[in-house]
Amino acid sequence: MAERPRVWVSQPLFADIVGRLGEHFEVSATETVVQHAPDAVAAALREADGALVTLNDAIGAAQVAGAGRLRAIANVGVGYNNLDLPALSAAGILATNTPDVLTETTADFGFALMMATARRITEAERWLREGHWRQWSFESLLGGDIHGATLGILGMGRIGRGIARRASGFGMRVLYHNRSRLPEAVEREHAAQYVGFEALFERADHLVLVLPYAPEHHHLVDAVALARLRPHATLTNIARGGLIDEDALADALGAGRLAAAGLDVFEGEPAINPRLLALRNVVLTPHIASGSLATRRAMVALAVDNLIAALGYGPDAGRPPSPLNADALTHARKRGA
Ligand code: DGY
Repeated sequence: MAERPRVWVSQPLFADIVGRLGEHFEVSATETVVQHAPDAVAAALREADGALVTLNDAIGAAQVAGAGRLRAIANVGVGYNNLDLPALSAAGILATNTPDVLTETTADFGFALMMATARRITEAERWLREGHWRQWSFESLLGGDIHGATLGILGMGRIGRGIARRASGFGMRVLYHNRSRLPEAVEREHAAQYVGFEALFERADHLVLVLPYAPEHHHLVDAVALARLRPHATLTNIARGGLIDEDALADALGAGRLAAAGLDVFEGEPAINPRLLALRNVVLTPHIASGSLATRRAMVALAVDNLIAALGYGPDAGRPPSPLNADALTHARKRGA
């Protein structure tokens, strides 16, 4: 009997869903949460035909250099800055991600985090738990309004548009900035007005970052950009931590140059800049924007479908639902895989 392809699953993911891989493959599944060292990822990939990985697993040229049989990597996540796509393409390895299934859940969370930030919800809870209620005054813990305020969205992809749709229910004015301006009909549908990058920072009462991370966006929100925000403004980040210069943000928050920040993502996560931890006016959450039960299950299911199809099995054999680098197949053919 021919040997079955081998797949590596890098993290514990819903066992009942990942179990479907066993219908086609020999599965080597990681049983506990592990921060795999780069060498450990390389060693696991050397033995695998395919892999199911998450944003915690960085995969570049060094990790795939000795992975002669590896043909597919299915990322559980819409963001894929953990994958070096040109390196994977050159090695003939197809990569996939999980778009769409998380759009609405992530937009829900972005809106919730913005509201928690503007209305100081976690700070108020800490204050209450610490027993300060007897000092309550009419001027305690005052925040900024959401209704009638101007929302700035940086990155108007699927999730950004989801946030714009929610904003209309709160009577917000929506400004956005994006690499390219959206068609007029889409702007109308989302009641969103395109503005320049600087104007977005200058005019937003609440600014939300939803753009994908790319090396050219590293510290896009630096001291200069932060200085454009007004003192009552809030900044919410549900994209990637590397977009913000966290020291510059801590300086600005500490000096009251903006009111508050809501951060679900961090440059060195799971480590957090201690200066942010020390600040009162920051809401911090551990990268959970897509974290509803239904959505996290849907993400894993889509990643499993992608991997099965990318390795040539199942009803979509050879046509994974969400490929990232179709050019990998050309390289694979040249390689004779
Ligand atoms: C994504 O899908 O990119 C999220 O950040 C992971 O939850």
